[in-house]
Amino acid sequence: MAQPRILILGAPGAGKGTQSAKIIEAFDVDHITTGDALRNNKEMDISDMDTEYDTPGEYMDQGELVPDEVVNAIVDEALSQADGFVLDGYPRNLDQAEELEDMTDLDLALYLEVGEEELVHRLTGRRMDPETGDIYHVEYNPPEDPEVEERLVQRDDDTEETVRERLSVFHENTEPVIEYYDEQGDLERVDGEQAPDEVWEDVKATIEDAA
Ligand code: AP5
Repeated sequence: MAQPRILILGAPGAGKGTQSAKIIEAFDVDHITTGDALRNNKEMDISDMDTEYDTPGEYMDQGELVPDEVVNAIVDEALSQADGFVLDGYPRNLDQAEELEDMTDLDLALYLEVGEEELVHRLTGRRMDPETGDIYHVEYNPPEDPEVEERLVQRDDDTEETVRERLSVFHENTEPVIEYYDEQGDLERVDGEQAPDEVWEDVKATIEDAA
């Protein structure tokens, strides 16, 4: 499989971004991530779409899903420009999963499994480097360079209250998506509670097995 088409699924904080960074390097594919695309367009005016809020950022800061119409268009455009990819953050509900079927065929759907309290701990301790986009954790993965440590920022939606809301949105909307791929026999589960390098070993082997 020269240019695999991989879907990575998991709750907020399961390690999708962390593992996607390794996948794109090892398999030379594009990283298509709705979270980053929306964060880069937080102030986009979507008021003409008859939505509850006028910008994606207002949904994100509450931990709610951004309307499908906005997200589907982002993914459709990105997929049309990619041969191989790892798709991260989409689909997040069954309607989006059906849309995705019309857009592309997948080689593999990978599900990173992590328990709830670990997810909260990971997200509230997550920090980002605004210059490189690298992901750190205050306890599990702090930067070695004090200059990097100084400039780290916390995502607006990584407060405990918003994290709990994001997890409840995941249970309600995205768990049915995982069942959907499972029922189709396309889902590969990976134990995401292991250390990042151990998770990577399993992710890499699963992708290679699907080739
Ligand atoms: P999005 O950006 O997609 O966030 P998410 O799904 O909530 O996932 P995260 O990025 O928070 O977690 P991750 O799994 O990537 O974990 P990471 O690798 O960083 O979405 C944000 C918002 O955008 C949504 O709430 C919604 O509003 C909107 N949105 C996005 N897509 C949408 C869609 N399709 N439809 C509608 N709305 C949409 O790891 C987390 C932390 O843990 C890090 O600190 C990391 O260092 C650490 N870590 C990672 N792996 C390990 C490990 N194995 N052991 C210990 N620590 C680890």
